Parts: sequence; structure tokens; C-alpha cells
Amino acid sequence: MAATATSAGKLAAAQPYLIDQDWAAYTPEQHAIWSELVSRRLPQLEQHACAEYLDGFHQIGLQADRLPDLKAVSARLQPRTGWNSTAVSGFLPAGAFFEMLAARKFPTTTWIRGRDAMEYTPEPDIFHDVFGHVPMHAHPVFADFLEHYGKLCAALTGQAELERLGRLFWFTVEFGVIRERGAVKVYGSGLISSHGECTQVIERHGGLEIRDFDLDQVLDTAVDVSKMQPVLYAIESFEQIYEATQQAEARLG
Ligand SMILES: [Fe+2]
Repeated sequence: MAATATSAGKLAAAQPYLIDQDWAAYTPEQHAIWSELVSRRLPQLEQHACAEYLDGFHQIGLQADRLPDLKAVSARLQPRTGWNSTAVSGFLPAGAFFEMLAARKFPTTTWIRGRDAMEYTPEPDIFHDVFGHVPMHAHPVFADFLEHYGKLCAALTGQAELERLGRLFWFTVEFGVIRERGAVKVYGSGLISSHGECTQVIERHGGLEIRDFDLDQVLDTAVDVSKMQPVLYAIESFEQIYEATQQAEARLG
């Protein structure tokens, strides 16, 4: 059984992974890498990211010229939706990860990739986590969805159930797309933070198909994380994924 957050907001399973972000220790070169990553991504995102992502980007005060200070980001985010961007040392075990989501604390890495990996890093870095994920946490419905997802997963022990729910995370939080006024826009952090993968979706490379979101199809679709999925699922609104999480919970009993 995964540990759960106490009413005092203490994290039991995640505690060993919590760190302080040493913002003053970032070098000018690291700030320059962040700046380059942001300025590479914004022109495409201004056209192809959903409005909620772009609103969130401004609401949490991200700057193009310097790495984000997670405490400053959280100070702007917390009053809006109760979410925090909380520094962690790296990948978390599933129980610790879900415990943090359930407490509205997003596990956030603090390291930044080098110039040899500008397009892709196998492990998430601060660019993927903060630029890619955190702006969506300023949206009230997405914020509720993600907390609810964390609580649901934290309460599960069956590996098969967790794998099925992992697919819901993959096709929404990581590779989610939404229809806005008839156009497909991206909101998943894997697409927000990667020019190559976002372009594959926008241009439908290799016959990539966008289907209407369908919870059963999402839960039944095994994911190969090493490549772009041939089918992605477009939602119509963020209420849809909140409700899908409730439906998944009802189905899993
Ligand atoms: Fe991610």
C-alpha cells in the first residue's frame, strides 16, 4: 500500500527524495541553455499549444532569460490552484510520486540538460518538468484532475491496474492534445518540451492519427515509451479527463 500524505501535508514516502533547489549555484551557461530551449520552443507553441498552457506560462511567471526559482513559481501557483513545484532529486518510486500528486506537490527535477542533449533527455530535467508540466497546474480543472489521479493511483496496489492508469497519464499529462475551435493543440509536457515530437503531431508524420478521446481505448493501449505513439487522443475540454479519472476509479472498484 502506498503511503499517503497526512493532513499536515507531510510526505512520508517522498521525504527521502525532497531537496532544496540551489538556484544561486546555476552557472551563466546553464541559464543560457534554459534561455535557448525556451526561445526555440515558444514560436511553435504560440501557434500550437492550447490557450490554457500559454495562460499558465504567464501566470506562474516563467522568464525566458533565466532558470526558474521553484519557490517563486510555487508562490504564484499556490494561491491559484494549491499546487506547488517541489524540488526532488530525480525519478521517484511510484508510491512517492503518487503521494506527491495527491498532495498537489509536483515532483520537479532541478538539473538542466547539456548542449549535447538539447532536443531530448531520457530522464526529465527542469526544462521538461517546469516548462513542460507546471504551466498546466495553474488551470483549475487540470489541477483537480491531477490531484485526483494521484489519489486514485496512491490507493491502488495491483500492478495491472497501475499499468492501465499509467496509460491515462501518458496519453494526457505527457502526450495530451485538445481540440480548440476545431484545431488540434498540444498540452502534454512531452509535446510542449520537444520540438521534434510536437512537429510530428502537428504535421501528422508517419500517418500519426488523432482520435477522439476514449477512456477504454486509452486504458487498453500499451505504450512503447521509446517512440511516438501512432495514435493520440484529443479531448474536447479538461473536464473530460477529470471525468475520465472518476470513471476509471468506478471501473476499478
Ligand atoms: Fe513528464
